[in-house]
Amino acid sequence: MPESRVYQTSDCDRGKIKGKRITVVGYGSQGRAFALNLRDCGMDVRVALRDSSPSLAEAKADGIEVSSLAQAADADIIILAIPDHEHTLFYDDCLKEKSSHKQIIVFLSGANVYYDNIDFDSRHDVILIAPHGPGSDLREKYLSGAGLSCFLAITPNASEKAKEIGLAIADAIGCSQAGIYETTFRDEAIGDLFGEQALLVGGLAGMTMAVFDKLVDRGLKPEHAYLETVAQLKLLASMIEKYGPAGMMARVSKTALSGSLMAMLLLFNEDFDQRLDKIYEFVASGEFNKFLQNEACNGFVKTREMLKLLQDDPCQQAAETFGRTGDRT
Ligand SMILES: NC(=O)c1ccc[n+]([C@@H]2O[C@H](COP(=O)([O-])OP(=O)(O)OC[C@H]3O[C@@H](n4cnc5c(N)ncnc54)[C@H](OP(=O)(O)O)[C@@H]3O)[C@@H](O)[C@H]2O)c1
Repeated sequence: MPESRVYQTSDCDRGKIKGKRITVVGYGSQGRAFALNLRDCGMDVRVALRDSSPSLAEAKADGIEVSSLAQAADADIIILAIPDHEHTLFYDDCLKEKSSHKQIIVFLSGANVYYDNIDFDSRHDVILIAPHGPGSDLREKYLSGAGLSCFLAITPNASEKAKEIGLAIADAIGCSQAGIYETTFRDEAIGDLFGEQALLVGGLAGMTMAVFDKLVDRGLKPEHAYLETVAQLKLLASMIEKYGPAGMMARVSKTALSGSLMAMLLLFNEDFDQRLDKIYEFVASGEFNKFLQNEACNGFVKTREMLKLLQDDPCQQAAETFGRTGDRT
């Protein structure tokens, strides 16, 4: 399989966006970082927010110009930094057939474009810039000069300048120092959704609860079970990031290593692989996309009900009681 191209600072020309009117829609995790980083490197940027938005005060305190959502239609470049389930409605209400000139729309995740949730008009070129981390990381790494890497994609029918503009924006927000990885909307959408569902969010939370609950069911006190599981996750996760899964295992005790290798044989069998295939198909077939659209229309009722069950789990109670740091929401 050919390696994907990785662009560096020398591949980018910020001049391509200098003087263009850039509107960042939303001032949450990514919106704040995009807006501040673009502002700090001299770009003409403002944030579009709802009239009564709770984010308004923060944007003003940061010295960022704020406009109405309707004014986004006047921009040359529109960066959609609002939750994914809000994209279609926002596009239909505020952008579709509203502009007199060709505009670039930047998505920070690929799903809505890949699953055809938006009926674009011909005034819009579409780009994906997906930073590899939350907005706080993007901002901190911009300020430190290290930069945070990102994915970049353009749609097959986008104009030639779309990629140059994508590279210029990614560079201006600090991604080129760490690498701008070329991809497709499809690969970003599926990789992001499957990765978070099977491992980073669903897999990790589910496995943590299952193991904690088993220890407590078999007689350990909740605090003891917490210290043997939740309290040590961060250390092992950072070892995996630094050394890789096998590298982490090579660095733990021989007891932990040999026992864990045996446990992996029991856990990750054919049955497990079939379950992973089901999750993959749920994502790749578009079934999850339909589920999400439905949930968004219904105020996320089912999602809230399922989260409530997890909030009542003894592992969550233990984390709230014995956890020492951090925001646990
Ligand atoms: N967070 C991450 O780690 C991360 C990483 C990579 C990519 N992404 C992608 O980045 C995008 C933004 O995610 P995020 O986590 O930064 O979002 P977020 O923090 O949840 O965004 C909240 C902001 O969006 C505004 N907003 C919400 N609905 C709106 C609407 N209908 N119209 C106008 N403004 C609206 C909110 O304004 P109010 O104050 O009015 O509610 C608030 O300013 C998504 O596509 C996401 O997939 C996120």
